[in-house]
Amino acid sequence: MNTKYWKVDNSVGNLEEYPQVLEASEFLKKNEVVAIPTETVYGLGGNAESDEAVGKIFQAKGRPSDNPLIIHIADKNQLNAFVKSIPDSAAQLMGAFWPGPLTIIFQKKDGTLSEKATAGLETVAVRMPNHPVALAVLKSCQLPIAAPSANTSGKPSPTTGAHVLEDLNGKVAGILDGGATGVGVESTVIDCTEGIPVILRPGGITKEQVEAVIGEVRMDKALTDLASAPKSPGMKYQHYAPNAPLYLVNGSKLFLDSLVAEKKAEGLRVGVLTTEEQVGAYEADVVLACGYRSDLETVASRLYQTLRSFNDAGVDIIFSEMFPNEGVGQAIMNRLEKAAGHRVLVE
Ligand code: TXA
Ligand code: MG
Repeated sequence: MNTKYWKVDNSVGNLEEYPQVLEASEFLKKNEVVAIPTETVYGLGGNAESDEAVGKIFQAKGRPSDNPLIIHIADKNQLNAFVKSIPDSAAQLMGAFWPGPLTIIFQKKDGTLSEKATAGLETVAVRMPNHPVALAVLKSCQLPIAAPSANTSGKPSPTTGAHVLEDLNGKVAGILDGGATGVGVESTVIDCTEGIPVILRPGGITKEQVEAVIGEVRMDKALTDLASAPKSPGMKYQHYAPNAPLYLVNGSKLFLDSLVAEKKAEGLRVGVLTTEEQVGAYEADVVLACGYRSDLETVASRLYQTLRSFNDAGVDIIFSEMFPNEGVGQAIMNRLEKAAGHRVLVE
């Protein structure tokens, strides 16, 4: 398949009338799939009402069919077509965080959306992205758009158009390149369907921010207890992995240095993932800074790019510093733990 690549300058006004946006929207209406930038990561969009379009999304990504997709909308009124009701907690969260990186799980109304998009569940995940290009495409096509991250399943999510091209060239109808995404990690997923809302995936909106609006929320048990089954089907798969094995290092810099020295002595090409504050202080073969430890949002924003850069640098093993498990650090650690297949070296 020939993949169309459109560059869009997202600072211009009236994006809805831009030829690139209109063309992408026409593709979506014809049940083709198109990658679009959002404020978190690039998404691979397709008409959520069409089995044909949703099938193409799963195929292009190589995604397991039991992993449901997030439905993207540009207007809250679109919800009525496919959710049974809007609980108070959800309404408050929508008011506070939409458009933005928060995905809300609702009870699904039967009959509108493709069953494939929701993987046959009784519930549906929905968000309104806060990105001018994504919103322009959604408004222009007037469809609910199913969009998982636009990477090959298992790989780090894409935060630039080039990442999408690397994974999906020849497999999708088009890619709208609107520059680098901002937040860098995916949306927070919260289940508001029963009792106290539960965060199923930490992400761009922190637990603290959510609690400031609706009071107590829980974290899904599966996020900390590896033996329990996650309520969010996608959370059980290995994700975000760079090509070389990644180890999280829980200990001092001296400990990390000793690990590097040991592996170098074995003749391996060793990578270290650190932050700008420490980037000059390691003696590994490839030392990459992922933002500033003093500002975790910069770490989130550069995390996937950094994981992909280790592939380009061709290392045999990667050791990564760890980050505080609070605020956006919860999302960073969740992604790093998955990328590392939960391998943690403790001093
Ligand atoms: O920021 C994001 O959310 C990005 C951008 C493109 O919007 N999208 C994204 O989609 O991360 P994806 O498919 O990579 O992750 C969706 C997550 C998966 O863990 C999936 O299992 C979960 O949301 N999910 C979807 N529908 C669900 C449902 N009904 N119940 C529980 N979890 C659900
Ligand atoms: Mg994903």
